[in-house]
Amino acid sequence: MPKSLPKTKRTKDNVLAELRGLRSADAQWKEGRTFSLVYYVDDEHSRLLKEAYGEFMAENGLSPLAFPSLRRMEAEVVSMAAGLFHGDDDVAGTMTTGGTESIMMAVKTAREWARKEKGIARPEIIAPLTVHPAFEKAAHYFDVEIRHAAPGPDFRVDVREVERLITPNTALIVGSAPPYPHGVVDPITELAALAQSRGLLCHVDACLGGFFLPFAKQLGRDIPPFDFEVPGVTSLSADLHKYGYAAKGASVVLYRNRELRRHQFFTYSEWPGGLYISPSMTGTRPGGAIAAAWAVMHYLGEEGYLDHARRILATTDKLLAGIRAIPGLRVLGAPHAGVFAFTSDSVNVYELGDAMEGRGWKLDRQQNPPALHCMITPAHERVADTLLADLRECASKLAAGEPAPEGSAAMYGMVGAIPDRQQVDGFLLDFLDGVFDRG
Ligand SMILES: Cc1ncc(COP(=O)(O)O)c(C=O)c1O
Repeated sequence: MPKSLPKTKRTKDNVLAELRGLRSADAQWKEGRTFSLVYYVDDEHSRLLKEAYGEFMAENGLSPLAFPSLRRMEAEVVSMAAGLFHGDDDVAGTMTTGGTESIMMAVKTAREWARKEKGIARPEIIAPLTVHPAFEKAAHYFDVEIRHAAPGPDFRVDVREVERLITPNTALIVGSAPPYPHGVVDPITELAALAQSRGLLCHVDACLGGFFLPFAKQLGRDIPPFDFEVPGVTSLSADLHKYGYAAKGASVVLYRNRELRRHQFFTYSEWPGGLYISPSMTGTRPGGAIAAAWAVMHYLGEEGYLDHARRILATTDKLLAGIRAIPGLRVLGAPHAGVFAFTSDSVNVYELGDAMEGRGWKLDRQQNPPALHCMITPAHERVADTLLADLRECASKLAAGEPAPEGSAAMYGMVGAIPDRQQVDGFLLDFLDGVFDRG
């Protein structure tokens, strides 16, 4: 039975009190016990985002003519990002509402480019197996074929494998800086050189690392080139709402030049409602997200981003060393950012995840190979020692035969044992149905 709208009005305080109460069962991200989804710095930072977002909550970035304020902020955000990623004056882009939208736009741009400039009716893209599912989604939505290249033993995509997958229909080669699963930057220089030598586009998905890697490099870390300084890179996505520390709903997608960006835009001149122009996927574009992104870039500046990167690197170093020192645990590859995965050769790593969950830690589960995932933010600085102590204890108890509390290990075990991926997708659809029915 659908719910009806309340018959009567309520006071603002009353509604807000109920709203806040709904949080009680949510992931406790402020305490640093959650490892993705939220990039929390501190309350002062959050207040800045709230105020900036609130100032422009009503404005709509769809109309650049109505809101020159937003147009200016967006242009500055895109320009600051282009500068950070070694772009020259030709580099152009737009803001979007997030990594997925940026990626969708890069794939749509590649499709249009291939159709119009190369006469390819059904363009293909080549992406590493570790690439974010937003590329699968883009391929699905835009009817583009996606071919997957396997990573090498170091978790970076194997460039020879990418080369092998090129066909006359290939439009775009993708690499990530870094991919989400293991945090190891793909060989962007080699991928971009390959793309360039074959007359193809090359997109770098720096959604996760874009606003982190340049600062890690300034701090002396060995970060391979990944942006427009690499010849052959033709587009790049980077999320402000991740390590850009902006409010949710903010990312940038950049192109080597304006001609490429034109393929992203959508126009429709026959609508009775007027001449319609839309730079990206969504219609209405939330002004608050643009304003908060602009505000945080000015608030932190290079100094602030460097401070956060320094803290994250120190925490990550401590965690990687600590995990490597725990018997039976193994970090996958050599991660470049504050993102990494670890597995175990002696205990079931999913059971380890459940045991940690029993102690309040929400570590994401991964597959192929089974692993637990960490994404470090400034909020994790305070909890690194406790996390390591808990990991050590949980791993040693499991190794001694003590059972883990019931959690998702059984489900991952079951799913891993089903060879038919369509059947697994069916389970996932049922799961989604259930989630959205229950609310
Ligand atoms: C490497 C990478 N690309 C793209 C995305 C998608 O970003 P969003 O969730 O903002 O759509 C993510 C999200 O974690 C990511 O890690």
